[in-house]
Amino acid sequence: MTDSAPDPDDHDAASEAFAGESETAPDDGFYRGSFFGRRKGHKLRLHQTDLMATLLPRLAFDIGSPAPADLRTRFDPAVEAVRVEIGFGGGEHLVAEAQAHPHVGFIGCEPYINGMAKILTHIEERGLGNIRLYAGDAAELLAWAPPQSITRIDLIHPDPWPKRRHWKRRFVQDATLEAMARVLVSSGEFRFVHDIPDYVAWTLWHLQRSPDFAWTAERADDWRQPWPNYTMTRYGRKATREGRQAAYVIARKIT
Ligand SMILES: C[S@@+](CC[C@H](N)C(=O)[O-])C[C@H]1O[C@@H](n2cnc3c(N)ncnc32)[C@H](O)[C@@H]1O
Repeated sequence: MTDSAPDPDDHDAASEAFAGESETAPDDGFYRGSFFGRRKGHKLRLHQTDLMATLLPRLAFDIGSPAPADLRTRFDPAVEAVRVEIGFGGGEHLVAEAQAHPHVGFIGCEPYINGMAKILTHIEERGLGNIRLYAGDAAELLAWAPPQSITRIDLIHPDPWPKRRHWKRRFVQDATLEAMARVLVSSGEFRFVHDIPDYVAWTLWHLQRSPDFAWTAERADDWRQPWPNYTMTRYGRKATREGRQAAYVIARKIT
């Protein structure tokens, strides 16, 4: 196994990769903020390469320049609200949400080039005008975004990093929750989905100790069932096939 993130196009290989995570993999030399995976998978198809060169620059956020006071104006036409999806993989959920909510702007974060190429083909095919992209570590985007500029952040089946010594690589940490709280509007939401019970418990534990968030669940079905109109992702389908029940956590910003 490598320390690579899964290939959204090669699901089985990705799962095996995580299952056999190397005990000898170095903890150092691979640190890039909150992203520890690989950026490239198989060779892109010709049209995908073309979209990476032509469409991605039009949709990509340049976080090298200062953030605008109002992120909504970065969409054309301007949108009513802005949401973020972190690590969208093949983009199924992000594309469905963007289609369902044309007046909301969506920022998709995915450092994995093959995932980025895939969503570009969906955006082109469906003519979606309300998705912007950041091809890097979501922690960098969160650090750049203006305060109270985002209404909802989705994190769906993030890389699980099951070995204890790799838990610090998980996206959910005190620092990332703090970063999310800074950019979320009051009562904004952080939504988290996972089929790995240990990561769900980890996230709930971090949410509980965060002064900024409250878990909204009132009954078991609130986390056992997907929220209405949830679009299953590739990783979600794989979990279902293999008999793993996902948890659907909605946390509200309370500060
Ligand atoms: C296990 S996959 C899940 C993909 C998708 N959400 C799904 O459910 O099918 C996790 C994804 O998160 C991306 N990722 C990992 N660290 C990230 C980070 N710091 N910022 C943004 N994306 C990240 C990986 O490249 C990978 O595509």
